[in-house]
Amino acid sequence: MSTERIVEIGEEGKKAFASADSEESLRELEVRFLGRKSELTGILKGLKDLSPDEKREVGPLVQGVRTVLAEASASAKERVQRESRDWEAERIDVTAPGMADPLGHLHPVTSIINEVEDIFTGLGFEVADGPDLESDFYNFEALNFPADHPARDMQDTFFIESDGLDQRYLLRTHTSPVQIRYMETHTPPFRIIVPGRTFRNESTDATHEHTFHQFESLVVGERGDVTVGHLKYVAESFFSEFFGRAVTVRLRPSYFPFVEPGFEFDISCVFCGGDGCPSCKGVGWIEIGGAGMVQQKVFEAAGYPRGKYQGFAWGFGLERLAMMKYRIPDTRSFMGGDLRFIRQF
Ligand code: PHE
Repeated sequence: MSTERIVEIGEEGKKAFASADSEESLRELEVRFLGRKSELTGILKGLKDLSPDEKREVGPLVQGVRTVLAEASASAKERVQRESRDWEAERIDVTAPGMADPLGHLHPVTSIINEVEDIFTGLGFEVADGPDLESDFYNFEALNFPADHPARDMQDTFFIESDGLDQRYLLRTHTSPVQIRYMETHTPPFRIIVPGRTFRNESTDATHEHTFHQFESLVVGERGDVTVGHLKYVAESFFSEFFGRAVTVRLRPSYFPFVEPGFEFDISCVFCGGDGCPSCKGVGWIEIGGAGMVQQKVFEAAGYPRGKYQGFAWGFGLERLAMMKYRIPDTRSFMGGDLRFIRQF
């Protein structure tokens, strides 16, 4: 057995594997050089017939060549697979726009609250809040709704099972209870706004919802320092900035137990500017909410001395503002849970 032949097989095999250009030709080469019927395998099988000296020489040589060829085969396989990949099909277009991750976003009412807070903090107001679940005291009693007074019927209330409790609890029907809560811990002068969730036990339609948001304002100073004129001025400044056009406020006499005098307040129609259009039903004004000068009894309930301070308050529905700003026809859309509506904002 010539050792030259073995070395020759190694050289031939290395060259052959190096020039293989398909997986198919690779398989043929493996059969030819490393297969059961290959020359090398034949030589290995014949080892047993050789003399011990020849065995010592040929054995390691054949094994070595086999190893070299097995490695050549493996690297050829890797190369062939790499070369046969369809690079064109795998090309990445680095100029393609990215795919947007689905992200949540703010609810339209939250955006409106943020916007309103921005405007008022710019005017030097502080933002205050209170609990959604209120006591009868804060929601009614301290706001000068005497027990069993018919004025309580003005607000359809969700009462909470209150057996065994110190008093009756309820879902607040307006943000006005926060007036009392704030005054209990602060001394005038101050100006606050209170955006918050409110509840009314009433049947719903396009302009009524059982769960909605109000926006309260309370400005208190020494007697004589805060007037209806300030109320009108602040309201007009706010609405003009919020709607991006000059808005006028109109006050009409009305009644709320916690203000005196009390007003219903309208703003000039933000669609026609007051000329009259379908949105304001031709009258040029849109009703917004309630307002007035704080009742001295309310100051007393909050622990202030009677007659020392004077202030104004107002409260209106936030959804109403959003509906005007974004031309939303139905107030039930806000809490309705239909994401197609929410996603438009
Ligand atoms: N709290 C009243 C309501 O919900 C609105 C209001 C607030 C009126 C402040 C006057 C002053 O109807």
